Amino acid sequence: MNRLFGWFGAKNPDREMPAHSRENIPQHVAIIMDGNGRWAKSKGMPRIAGHRAGMKNVRTITMAANELGVKVLTLYAFSTENWKRPKEEVDFLMKLPQEFFPLEIDELKKNNVRIRMMGSKEGLPRHSLDAVEAAIEETKDNTGLILNFALNYGGRRELLLGIRRLAEHIRDGEITPDDISEQLFDSYLQSEGLPEPDLLIRTSGEVRISNFMLWQLAYTELWFTDVFWPEFSREHFFEAIRSYQGRARRYGKL
Ligand code: IPE
Ligand code: IPE
Ligand code: MG
Repeated sequence: MNRLFGWFGAKNPDREMPAHSRENIPQHVAIIMDGNGRWAKSKGMPRIAGHRAGMKNVRTITMAANELGVKVLTLYAFSTENWKRPKEEVDFLMKLPQEFFPLEIDELKKNNVRIRMMGSKEGLPRHSLDAVEAAIEETKDNTGLILNFALNYGGRRELLLGIRRLAEHIRDGEITPDDISEQLFDSYLQSEGLPEPDLLIRTSGEVRISNFMLWQLAYTELWFTDVFWPEFSREHFFEAIRSYQGRARRYGKL
């Protein structure tokens, strides 16, 4: 059925989402895709098999977000701390972009999806970066869902890099300390131009932020599930959206 509509663009008529839930869709959903290793272990497979299954699940959830009209989907793919893992695992993870993008790029393009990246290019192997940059280039004119990969990303590093650049601009006389507002500071971050996440999902039962979007999550709604990322389905995604839709976002007001 979905194949008829293309993997990402299926506008199937409210199959899982009741009609009233199609209002108040979060603009920006961010996901900490966690639990690949434990999922693999539970199946008696090596951790890397979990990462490959996790990679395949990106398509499913991107399609679900696109169907709902989510504007930005940010996926935490590799943190600045993940370099501390065994070399074989890191090497495998670094090969995933060149596996993922050639496989998915046609559907992404067909569905007007635009690829973006957040994180430090420095430190990433050339082959990983080439795959990401080619996808960014190929989709740069697309106007639909922004699929934003946080790769070699750390919230603290993002803040420090932004502050450093801000300090340089003050030193060079381009701005003064009085110019520093929340809005200006936003423009120094790697999420520049994107709305703050409305909803953060973390899979695998861990209930922490793990250095993800520390500035941007100030008023984000959080949703946690025990489900491991490779098994996180579109139904789970819709469940998170429904939970979001039932929340009262007060922002400190009454
Ligand atoms: C998330 O799954 C993917 C990355 C962090 C790269 P994990 O690899 O963290 O899986 P668990 O948490 O060990 O199960
Ligand atoms: C967070 O997961 C990073 C990504 C999902 C890419 P981790 O598995 O690295 O986080 P911790 O170590 O459990 O906090
Ligand atoms: Mg983990």
